[in-house]
Amino acid sequence: MSAAAERDGAPPSLSIVAAAQVLRPPRDRMQHLRGDELNAQTLDPGGLAARDGRITALEPDPIAEVTIDATGCAVIPGFVDCHTHLPFAGWRAGEYEQKLTGVPYEEIARAGGGIASSSRALREASDDAVLDQSSSLAEEMLAAGTTTFECKSGYGLSREQEMRALVLARELEIQVTQTTTSTALLAHAVPEGYTADTWMAEVQEMMPEVVGAGSVTALDIFVESIAFGNRHLELMGELASASGLALRCHAEQLSTMRSVPVALAAGARSVDHLSMIHPDDIAPLAAAPCAAVLLPGAEFLGAEHRAPARTIIDAGAIFVLATDANPGTSPVFSMPVVIGLGSRMYGLSVREALGSATLNAAWVLDLHHDWGSIEVGKRADLVVLDGPAEEVAYRFGHNPVAIVVVGGEVVYVRDDEAADRISQGA
Ligand code: NIG
Ligand code: FE
Repeated sequence: MSAAAERDGAPPSLSIVAAAQVLRPPRDRMQHLRGDELNAQTLDPGGLAARDGRITALEPDPIAEVTIDATGCAVIPGFVDCHTHLPFAGWRAGEYEQKLTGVPYEEIARAGGGIASSSRALREASDDAVLDQSSSLAEEMLAAGTTTFECKSGYGLSREQEMRALVLARELEIQVTQTTTSTALLAHAVPEGYTADTWMAEVQEMMPEVVGAGSVTALDIFVESIAFGNRHLELMGELASASGLALRCHAEQLSTMRSVPVALAAGARSVDHLSMIHPDDIAPLAAAPCAAVLLPGAEFLGAEHRAPARTIIDAGAIFVLATDANPGTSPVFSMPVVIGLGSRMYGLSVREALGSATLNAAWVLDLHHDWGSIEVGKRADLVVLDGPAEEVAYRFGHNPVAIVVVGGEVVYVRDDEAADRISQGA
């Protein structure tokens, strides 16, 4: 993991004063927030202090070297985007037009578009081109308040290119300001020349190399009629446990495969998408130590079915929102946009939306011990909004992020009056 503060030494001490709202969990040291715990988060006025990259007090520090005047603003934890497909190469705007005019995703994929088309683009792009595109997207994400994000492979579709994607994810981690994690999405689409079974045998063989890459923390699989089946999910679960990695799963996106019980039995950390989840699978998911990661960008832009989010939250699941940032189903990199979409599509309260994009998302990446909430002792990864938290979903399309702090250091200041809020010296 990387962060500017860890690279460049201790940042100056920081004080945030007069915030109209500071988002806090109901209690300290909670791993995640289920059901009513989301609405029990508080948004009271206050301030905070940070030193050596960590939050040291929930009140301002009058002798801090840098002070942010947060009058009228909400201060929230930096967004944690726990499901992205960075790094990747190029875009697929032409496909989006096909979708808009009625061609289903499965048909585009079967005709050689979709994941296969991004795989060709990755193969043809130089490392520098992939990293340039991906790091400029990471900058865009930072300006929208994302201070931590997940990278995934998955567009390799060959042993060599999958390993290259994981190395590029590691390079990206070093280049960007955010903390990142790497997930090996080794079963995304069935590569040419393979069946799902023979490709899984290849995946099994490449595991020592994947683990040896050193930075991978999770395995992922796309279970769908056009991709892999539940028995491949079971096998991926076995590979994950044997290697000490978390299991994640793209599940129930386009059709109901009944993958959720299989993922739970395999010990999955998260099941992502769930647009077509079977109603009988919601209660077991809600009772499990497995997050429900919903991706409203993919549902909205793909005109896909809508996950039964309200039922999932009310049943007590670890509910999470993420971008699914990728060149196909969700070319969306802004967590405020995802919160705006998710709040409207699923009927979320402000606290539900914010908790699912911060602490719960950090739990998916196993970073909740240090990231995802404003608590003394945790990392000072913070966002100062330009107004109250209620406006994030309400002013849909407006970027509400004025100032971003990573590891106690101010790393982004919006090019307007936001700079006037910062003063140097005690
Ligand atoms: O999360 N569903 C599978 N994977 C991606 C889409 C990848 C693509 O179309 O490039 C997703 O939606
Ligand atoms: Fe995805």
